[in-house]
Amino acid sequence: MTDQHQTSREPIGTTTSNRRLVIAIDGPSGSGKSSTARGVAERLGLAFLDTGAMYRAITWLALQEGLDLDDQAAVADLLAHASMDIDQDPRCPAIAINGVDVSEAIRAPEVSAAVSAIATNLNIRADLVARQKKLIAEAVDGIVAEGRDITTVVAPEADVRVLLVADPAARVARRHAELAEHQMDVDAVTDQVIRRDRDDSLVAEFESAAPGVHVVDSTFLSLEEVIETICAFVPVQGLGDRRDRRG
Ligand code: DC
Repeated sequence: MTDQHQTSREPIGTTTSNRRLVIAIDGPSGSGKSSTARGVAERLGLAFLDTGAMYRAITWLALQEGLDLDDQAAVADLLAHASMDIDQDPRCPAIAINGVDVSEAIRAPEVSAAVSAIATNLNIRADLVARQKKLIAEAVDGIVAEGRDITTVVAPEADVRVLLVADPAARVARRHAELAEHQMDVDAVTDQVIRRDRDDSLVAEFESAAPGVHVVDSTFLSLEEVIETICAFVPVQGLGDRRDRRG
């Protein structure tokens, strides 16, 4: 297994005087997690980890291999022998599985429709959680990780933990706009957002905040305002000269 932060670019966050910072962001589909986490990472000079992309990558591979996604043991075995290479630069995040760059392919509607079957497979979760914990531990200067169980399972000890929420109608509208190129109708997008969250919530608690987790409602906030709100939660000693470090 070679999960790794590729080092082809200049390392992110090179100041060693700062304390290592881990920021965990959870939330449902369309809450704006990814854009927010990328923005926070970029502003603070941290790495970025989209854990949903890991669930999507193994879904893509299982579909590619023609596996029955309900055959939990077969899918878990496929993942156990798969390598994932993840570029954690928030300016251009990317993911490859078994050497194939799937950064775009994992956003296809077929993958979105199938991913809950994989995300509710507890063997898959155990494998991916272990990989995510390792990636977070290896992030030299710190990281912003986003998903559904980061604040509770993957990094409950994170310096800042946030549950990002938004009204269902706002989440469906955002996803619809994001998926414009796939020309999906509103019913299909609603299925992706509402049904998928219902399925996913069976195995990860992202609908209410655990103790110590900040709740941020993005319904009426701009992306910049959400990023600013989360940066304000960072303890002052963790900030050092990180603020507004842009590549
Ligand atoms: O955030 P997303 O839509 O890219 O996530 C893809 C799927 O993976 C979605 O069904 C939720 C699931 N997921 C999860 O169960 N745990 C995570 N930490 C991240 C994503």
